[in-house]
Amino acid sequence: MEKKKVIIDCDPGIDDSLALMLALASPELEVLGITTVCGNVPADLGARNALKVLQFMDRLDIPVYQGAEVPLAREYVSAQDTHGEDGIGDSGLPDVNGVPVRAGAVDYILDTLKKEKGLCLLAIGPMTNVALALQREPEVFKNLGVLVSMGGSFKSHGNCSPVAEYNYWCDPDAAAYVYENLGKSKACGLTEGEPPIHMVGLDVTRKVVLTPNILEYMKRLNPEIGGFVEKITRFYFDFHWEQEGIIGCVINDPLAVAYLCRPELCGGFDAYTAVETKGISIGQSVVDAENFWKKAPNSRVLTGVNTEEFMTMLLYRLCGGEESEIRKMMAYSCRGGDGL
Ligand code: RIB
Ligand code: CA
Repeated sequence: MEKKKVIIDCDPGIDDSLALMLALASPELEVLGITTVCGNVPADLGARNALKVLQFMDRLDIPVYQGAEVPLAREYVSAQDTHGEDGIGDSGLPDVNGVPVRAGAVDYILDTLKKEKGLCLLAIGPMTNVALALQREPEVFKNLGVLVSMGGSFKSHGNCSPVAEYNYWCDPDAAAYVYENLGKSKACGLTEGEPPIHMVGLDVTRKVVLTPNILEYMKRLNPEIGGFVEKITRFYFDFHWEQEGIIGCVINDPLAVAYLCRPELCGGFDAYTAVETKGISIGQSVVDAENFWKKAPNSRVLTGVNTEEFMTMLLYRLCGGEESEIRKMMAYSCRGGDGL
């Protein structure tokens, strides 16, 4: 199986960290590099956090490039209330010494696109870096295989406003620009005729919840990995109880990784999507599901997910063990066995 070459543009971030772990444990992917963007935390802190995850996964060979420090136009608003001051649950993980964080995330994205036809971009933070790259050299994006974007929402409520999801709310101008212009760059799409953007929005990510039961199972399967996940998610569990009244935490970003590896995990439809950049619904992804605007689809909007299969994949790839046993446990957990 030919690996998909991918750059992960992220804002680590608790769920971004889990996403990086899953990407590094997935045989379908070759992670060429990581770029960070202002989002959950400032881009420089995100880069330092990415190095902490790479060190834990013993993959400091992967380069990290720091990107945009502010959104295209809006004032920057972090999500440290959700992810902790340090961005990884105030877990106090020490900085990685002696490994450089490179500058120039946008240059790195463009340079890599010029070299790698079919390159996949996995954007799991605000799309500021992607938009800047597209603005600077749109013609280079003809080499893009697919942009998988964790962000937006079709029918699920927002997490930053009644209608807006954080990544698109934090930098709505970047999201709007990418949705409006990526298709014009003749991005080749994952397969012929597919839209270049695949939107892994809250409609599907809210269905993948890391519960105390599943976390406990991870710790039994692999104390080191489970212990690390517990350390960085404790803050996130508390936030979800206080803000959404759920026991567990929605792990948005790892689903985007899993979807890139195995698109059959999610179902959806192709539509033209635009992002609002002003007013009370700023950051809302407006999905023209009924084709009112008669515009060619620029996105695949995902609305369904095989939660059991995703959770089995996440635990098996991160923790090891017997896949069939994990599948049974996830079937039990995901069908309400642990109060889901
Ligand atoms: O709305 C959830 C998204 O915003 C996730 O990617 C999370 O890490 C934050 O970036
Ligand atoms: Ca993120």
